[in-house]
Order: sequence, then C-alpha cells, then structure tokens
Amino acid sequence: MPEDLAALRHETERLREELRHHNHRYYVLDDPTVADAEYDRLLSRLRELEAAHPDLLDPDSPTQRVGGAALAAFVAVRHELPMLSLDNVFSEEEFRGFDRRVRERLGEEGDIRYCCEPKLDGVALSLLYEDGALVRGATRGDGASGEDITANVRTIASIPLRLLGEGWPQRLEVRGEVYMPRAGFESFNRRALETEGKTFVNPRNAAAGSLRQLDSRITAQRPLEFCAYGAGVSSAALSGRQSQLLAQLRDWGLRCSPEVKVATGVAACLEYYAELLGRRARLPHDIDGIVFKVDSIALQERLGTVARAPRWAVAHKFPAEEEMTRVEDVEFQVGRTGAITPVARLAPVFVGGVTVSNATLHNMDEIARLGLMRGDTVIVRRAGDVIPQVARVVMERRPLDATPVTLPDQCPACGSPVERVEGEVVARCSGTLVCPAQQREALRHFASRRAMDIDGLGERIIEHLLAAGLVRDVADLYTLQPDALAALDRLGQKSAVNLVMAIARSRETTLERFLYALGMREVGEATARALARHFGTLETFVAADVTRLQQVQDVGPVVAGHIAAFFADQRNRELLARLVAAGIHWPAVEKPAGGGPLEGVSVVLTGTLDSMTRDEAAERLAALGARVSGSVSAKTGLLVAGPGAGSKLTKAQTLGIDVWDEARLLAFLHEQGGSS
Ligand code: IVH
Repeated sequence: MPEDLAALRHETERLREELRHHNHRYYVLDDPTVADAEYDRLLSRLRELEAAHPDLLDPDSPTQRVGGAALAAFVAVRHELPMLSLDNVFSEEEFRGFDRRVRERLGEEGDIRYCCEPKLDGVALSLLYEDGALVRGATRGDGASGEDITANVRTIASIPLRLLGEGWPQRLEVRGEVYMPRAGFESFNRRALETEGKTFVNPRNAAAGSLRQLDSRITAQRPLEFCAYGAGVSSAALSGRQSQLLAQLRDWGLRCSPEVKVATGVAACLEYYAELLGRRARLPHDIDGIVFKVDSIALQERLGTVARAPRWAVAHKFPAEEEMTRVEDVEFQVGRTGAITPVARLAPVFVGGVTVSNATLHNMDEIARLGLMRGDTVIVRRAGDVIPQVARVVMERRPLDATPVTLPDQCPACGSPVERVEGEVVARCSGTLVCPAQQREALRHFASRRAMDIDGLGERIIEHLLAAGLVRDVADLYTLQPDALAALDRLGQKSAVNLVMAIARSRETTLERFLYALGMREVGEATARALARHFGTLETFVAADVTRLQQVQDVGPVVAGHIAAFFADQRNRELLARLVAAGIHWPAVEKPAGGGPLEGVSVVLTGTLDSMTRDEAAERLAALGARVSGSVSAKTGLLVAGPGAGSKLTKAQTLGIDVWDEARLLAFLHEQGGSS
C-alpha cells in the first residue's frame, strides 16, 4: 500500500519536525510553548510509528537520544584545526596588559571591540555537522586529537541532531562547552550517594565523568547541557565578527550563552566582568571567569596564535569559590539559647577572596549528610559574600586515622546534659542559666548595638566579668561599680567609668529593643517590634497566653511556645523583675492606631541608601504602619531598592511588586510630614 506508506512517512516527518521545534524551545531557548503531556503524546505517537514501520526509522529522529549499545573503547579523532586553550589573567592590571599588547600588535590607538562571554566551567566539545546533520562529537583531548564520543553527545538534549534554519555550510564544526547545571548536579550527586555511596567533587568533574562513559545509556541519564562558543572547520566563510557568529549559531538551533555582550575598550570589559562576578552565585551553572575575544575575525587573523593559545583572546579568571582543605578538628560551640553547633576547624585556605579557618557544620544531621569525620579532606565553598560552607567530603582522601564525630553527652562549657528534642535537629545544653557559654552569649546579645546598645561591653570584657564573678546574668550589669570594674585585668579607671556610664545610659530604651535584648528563642527584631506594638506594655505582654500571642503578626505556634516557655521559668520572671527594678524604662508605645498610611503593607529594603541607613529607613516606615521584613515574597507590598540591589530586586520584579528608589521614598516620607 504505497499511498498509505507515503501518508505515514509524511506524518512521521511532520512529528519529527514538530518535536525538533519543541526540543529547541525547551532545551535551547528555555522557553517551551507546549505542555509536557502534549509533548509526550507526540513522542509516543512517533515511537509507535517507528516501531511498526522499521523502514521509517531515521538515526536523527528525536526518538534516538536514549543511548545505545556500549562501546569497547573510544576511537581517536584528529582535529582538522587544533582546539586551542586560553591564556589566563587574574587581575585588572593583567587584563590591561593583554589589551595593550593587542593594540600594540595591531598598531591601534583606539579602543578594541571585544566579545565578552562567560567562561563555562565544563568540558570542551567539538561537534561536526555535515549537510546539517550531526555526524561526530569529539573531546578536546590534547588539542591535536581527542576521542570520538558521538554516541554520548547525541544524548544531550540541547545539542541539535540536525541544524535548524538554513544557510549553514555543508561542513561545519561547532565548538563549545558541555557542563552540568548546579541544580542537576545537586540531585545527581544525591542519587549517586544513595546508590553508589560516592559523589563527584564538582559539576565539572561530573560532566567529564558523564562524557567518558562507554555506555551512552548512562550518559543519557546525566543532566548535561551544551553551550556553543565558536566554530572550527567550515566549508564556507562564516560571519566577520565573533558576536555575529554566535548569533548565527543561535539561528541554526544551537545554544549560546544569553550573557554574551560586545564591549568596546577596557573599562567596558571590566564593568562586564564585575557585573557578572556579582551575579555569579545566582547563575544556574558554574562559571570561572570571563573570556574576552577580539570581536573582528579579520583582526583575530592578524593577531594569530602563539603556542597553544590565541593572541586575540584571554580568560580573566574569577577568584576560586571552592578549595580543598583538611578538617583538623570538630568542636562544639554553645549559643545564647543553648544550641550546640558543631564547627569545623580547618587548615587555613584562601577561598572566595578570604582566608577561611572555621566553618559551621550547623548540626549533627548535616554532619551525617556530609558523612564527615575528623581528619577528612573537604571542599570548602564560599560563593559571593556568603559564609563559608563545607560543601562535601573528598572520600578518596580519607586518612586511615579519621575519627567519627559524635554529639557530646555533656555541654562542653558547663557539663550539663545535652538534650536532643524529638523532631528537632538542634541539640541543646540544658544548663540554661548556669552555663557560662550561654551566660556569655546572653550578655553579648543583650549589650549588642541593636539590643540595649551598651558601648564598650565587648566579648573580652564580658569574659573577664564572668571570670571575676562580677556578673552572672544581664541584670547584674546594672549593679556594677567603677572601682570593681577598674580592678579587672587591663581595664583602666577611665574605661571603667565609661562603661558604667554606657550601662546607665542603656536604661533608657524602647520596649521593642528590650524585648529583643531578652533573647527569647526565635524572637528577632521584627518579632520584638510586632510584640511591642501589639501589646503596648510589658505587663500585657507577659500576661499573654499562647492564644493571644498568636494574634500577633508573624507569631505562629512555635514562637508563641518559645515565649510562653521563657516566662514559665520562674528564674526568667525574676530576671525581668530585677531589670525593671534596675530602672530600665521606655516611652509609652505609640500604636499606629490602625491608621498609618502603610498599615499592613509589608516592605523590604535592599541595596544602599545615601541619606539615611537602612535601619533608619525601616524605623520611619514602621512608624507609618509598615511591616518591615527581610525577604521578598508574594506578600511583599513594596520594595525600596538602592544601588547594589541584587536578587531581592530581581525577585520583586518577577513578582510584579512595586519598587521605589531612594528619591521616591524621600518624597513619600516628606509628604507624610516627616523631615528628610
Ligand atoms: S574559546 C580559541 N570560549 O576554556 C579559544 N573557551 O581555558 C578556545 N571555555 O578549552 C576556547 N568557556 O573548554 C572559549 N566562552 C568560552 C569558553 C571557553 C569555557 C573553556 C574551553 C577551553 C578552555 C580554555
């Protein structure tokens, strides 16, 4: 029935076209236009047709990506044009030197146009297309020859098996990077730990390992992506500019980085570098620097190549975000509320721009998740301005004398039993008021700037006061005499008097600061402010039961429970009475009487402000009824963003939240009758 077969052939071709289109939208453009179910329906219809009519099979069909029989070994491939590497620079100065050499060689006075691209942290790949069909994928190898990994490459969804559009050269080699996005890496590594008990150190190693599989069915299950950054051999002339070449490759269905930009002159290049460095932690994949390429291909040809790197391109590297180091010890620290936190003492290592010698391990669950032992070699990660974390253990380097980490039964500071409440990950010291570590942390918190703001009462003096038995709790501070203080190690008469005066001054405060200073569990500044506003006086607050506490904005059963537990302890009630008797006082709380212009509006502040600090802005907004919060969510009503705003601004924009700049804020505060 040839007509029938012709009709089936037609349907098969149409399905393939449609699926290629959807693959491109989904994997290359990141912008699908069809629901998953519809896509699945098309794919299973195509599978069905191909199974029923083997003569309709086509090796480039979208069904042919799952991987096939395993190979015995990879075949060597000689690169027709060598795959070059890049010279690195590590500083602005070195980059200026590179630009100067480029201009000198070209005899160019003016600024050079550079194509700026992220340097993807993955594995270089060569893709050969003939008549628009992918015929070979090869690794870089030593640059002169690599390995044929076509079967593996075909399983990567963002690599088109056929080029889209038209006008491509009959033979075209596309070059780019294969990498594993962070999200894919995390889930893949979690699975690897569960099934094989081992993990990959970083996304680059995971990508490299995935491409080296002789069985392409394994590669097919790895979350790999491809991004094109150039061309190798081509049977026809390509664009005259690197930036145009990338646009051309995009039209042919290849993925190129959405971050590519043309910049003219060094200053613009450095600006691009700084901008992307600032966003680095929020990109979906690792990048380890910026590649700057002279945009004009004619100029590239004039500059030529030296050794194995072109003279027309350079990689300006970012500071490393991950380094390897050794866990010399794990110690347990006791916090203000008795929480016992394991901390890794590390052999000092320079990572993310600072030297790191300690890293929190959070809790015992985290240690179990990492599988960490004392003596282990670990990867320390510090991305952006985030605190350093132990990302993973390098199991291959575990020494024979590594020892497991166990939670102590007794508090390392006071010897009281350590408790671990069912369902809670945090372990706590049960010696609340007798534990010197908790006493110290409670004093530190009480004296801190945003609590009672006692100038000069730092960690060292607190240690001395406790050691000398001059104070045991925060109420004792108000009994201190200058003479007794002056007798303390290294504290002169003058400092002693100043400190006593600072303590005296702290008696005059606000109810919200005082509530915050008490250090009740999970009562941060925002909650303390809400409590002060809601109850108005200390007496009504202390008298409130959990039901009434939960009527306060943002106070749920957990926080209400902590507050109730705090006051259920007779010793805390006594402490409070002693503080009030010591003369701590505050002005009556002005309730915004439900009438503030920002009543009920949740406001977030981000970036820097010129005319006031963020705290001042928060205070003034709160006085108008706003609820000032730290993070943007769908409930946020307004974001005030100054220069340097980052992810909060982006998030607010995607959520369609109102965004004000400082000028707008000042105008508003002015209208409300405040001075600005
Ligand atoms: S161009 C002639 N562009 O970096 C220049 N390479 O250190 C050759 N890489 O082997 C490469 N992102 O694997 C170029 N946007 C980019 C890149 C990039 C990552 C890798 C590539 C290369 C290595 C050289």
